[in-house]
Amino acid sequence: MLQPRSLLDAQTIAARVRELGQQIERDYAGKDLVIVVVLCGSFVFAADLVRAIALPLSIDFFGLRSYGDATQSSGVVRITHDLARSVEGKDVLLVEDIVDTGLTVQFLIDTLKTRAPRSLKLAALLHKPARSRVQVPIDYLGFTIDDVFVVGYGLDCAQRYRNLPYLGVVDEGG
Ligand code: IMP
Repeated sequence: MLQPRSLLDAQTIAARVRELGQQIERDYAGKDLVIVVVLCGSFVFAADLVRAIALPLSIDFFGLRSYGDATQSSGVVRITHDLARSVEGKDVLLVEDIVDTGLTVQFLIDTLKTRAPRSLKLAALLHKPARSRVQVPIDYLGFTIDDVFVVGYGLDCAQRYRNLPYLGVVDEGG
């Protein structure tokens, strides 16, 4: 298996995640913040992000499985793990790894809205605007990237590479 070539190194990611954390900290001071982590790809980003937010907050997890193949989202998703607690009346911040077509995040937003949170915003580490199929506003965005398939820092290709400490691109044949 080839080592993915680096797109964003660990230091660059860490600096941006700290900035996002500070911004979230300012915006959510005094609010009842619930971080909803979308499994599995967001677990590394979320782990770093929550440690950059010095506020009282709670964390819950939402597990999804896409019916697409390894590199294409179909937008048809199955809930594999639901939230453990109600988010009614809470200020929910959804944490996603990447907004690609936007279909997954749209599904998440529609689903969470039915749970009557007080507010609902989205933090995403990455956005690939070239592949957008639905426009979803990203309130806190790490990086905009080109139309390449990225792995590492929690993101996988057929379940591999999630433990890579940087964001990389697997070249053809890798
Ligand atoms: P969307 O529904 O097309 O926006 O896809 C969202 C989901 O597809 C993400 O949460 C990822 O799990 C996965 N995904 C999309 N692009 C990539 C990528 O470049 N690398 C790894 N996973 C990706």
